[in-house]
Amino acid sequence: MSEIVLSRVNKHYGTTFHAVKDVDLTISDKEFVVLVGPSGCGKSTTLRMIAGLEDISSGEIRIGDRVVNTLPPRDRDIAMVFQNYALYQHMTVYDNLAFGLRNKKMPEEKIKQAIGHVTEILGLGTMLQRKPRQLSGGQQQRVALGRCIVRNPQAFLFDEPLSNLDAKLRTQMRVEIKRLRARVPTTSVFVTHDQVEAMTLGDRVVVMRDGSIQQCGTPLQVYSEPSNKFVAGFIGAPAMNFLSAEIRMEEGGLVAHAPGLRIPVPARCREALFSRADHKVILGVRPEHLSITPTDKPIGAAQVEVVEQLGAELVIETLVEGQAITVSRMDPTLHITAGQKVDLHVTSEQLHFFDPETEWRIQ
Ligand SMILES: Nc1ncnc2c1ncn2[C@@H]1O[C@H](COP(=O)(O)OP(=O)(O)OP(=O)(O)O)[C@@H](O)[C@H]1O
Ligand SMILES: [Mg+2]
Repeated sequence: MSEIVLSRVNKHYGTTFHAVKDVDLTISDKEFVVLVGPSGCGKSTTLRMIAGLEDISSGEIRIGDRVVNTLPPRDRDIAMVFQNYALYQHMTVYDNLAFGLRNKKMPEEKIKQAIGHVTEILGLGTMLQRKPRQLSGGQQQRVALGRCIVRNPQAFLFDEPLSNLDAKLRTQMRVEIKRLRARVPTTSVFVTHDQVEAMTLGDRVVVMRDGSIQQCGTPLQVYSEPSNKFVAGFIGAPAMNFLSAEIRMEEGGLVAHAPGLRIPVPARCREALFSRADHKVILGVRPEHLSITPTDKPIGAAQVEVVEQLGAELVIETLVEGQAITVSRMDPTLHITAGQKVDLHVTSEQLHFFDPETEWRIQ
């Protein structure tokens, strides 16, 4: 069992800066958890505290059945992959893979077996005698992964391992990491600022901001039930539209009114919003849940500002009484031009309401 448990973990740098705040997080045995958030939110610091590369200021970190608070990194039985692959440039791929095992005084015969195994998993067979500079970025990153796997650690820690790669290679490596997970299931913590990477790789996604966890859930949970406006805006692309609205009780039920828009409150949100009648809320609606193709009643009229043709979909930026609203996933064969007037429609029950003071989800 190699569960990782963080209990009220804090990190202060000096006397003034509180980089990680009361982080409580349990990563189950063989679970793959992704920490995601904007630059400076404390992702790497959290990971480095798990690795032992950074002291914790207070709290407790447990890996497996040991509290590791003061245990040096080499005794924590974890392997870490960084953005820069940190391979030994003067050694062959084989020797890079063997390095950690030789340090542990593993017999050469066993090392050979272990390397044979990862070589097969990662398809490194033809590269073992090359030096890192004779490999592409993607191949080097694969060797760095291999170096972790041969050690057969209790946990893998990844800090933005794909961010040096070009877009296409990133996608490939993402698939490779998924494949690897199926073959070598190991407790993993993966740090990224890229929400697509987080959503595609994580069993669970942990969204951080200013050193605090904002939400921890499956990719679908953070997408469809974001805990606050920050998470709602961070997850999903193009980003969620936010409107300042007022809830009113009308004959047919609750309605959210924003300048130029009248949006009936879907059944699933009604109960939470009853007590908000005549109050202001922030209404969130994802671009993919809006359309200009008539469904039933339009919520209002918009003027098209920008049209983005992406081939597979059309994304338009519109203006409703000065407020920008994005609509995505539109039929790319539609003929729409800037300046055109369109009617907006909501195509999903998935509207989101946030408290304007706290910005947390109203539920
Ligand atoms: N050694 C240090 N001394 C002082 N402040 C630090 C130190 N290391 C990190 N910080 C600060 O702590 C905060 C969190 O840093 P961290 O590296 O964890 O961010 P991050 O979420 O990994 O960001 P990025 O996506 O840019 O890598 C930042 O504001 C950073 O400036
Ligand atoms: Mg970082």
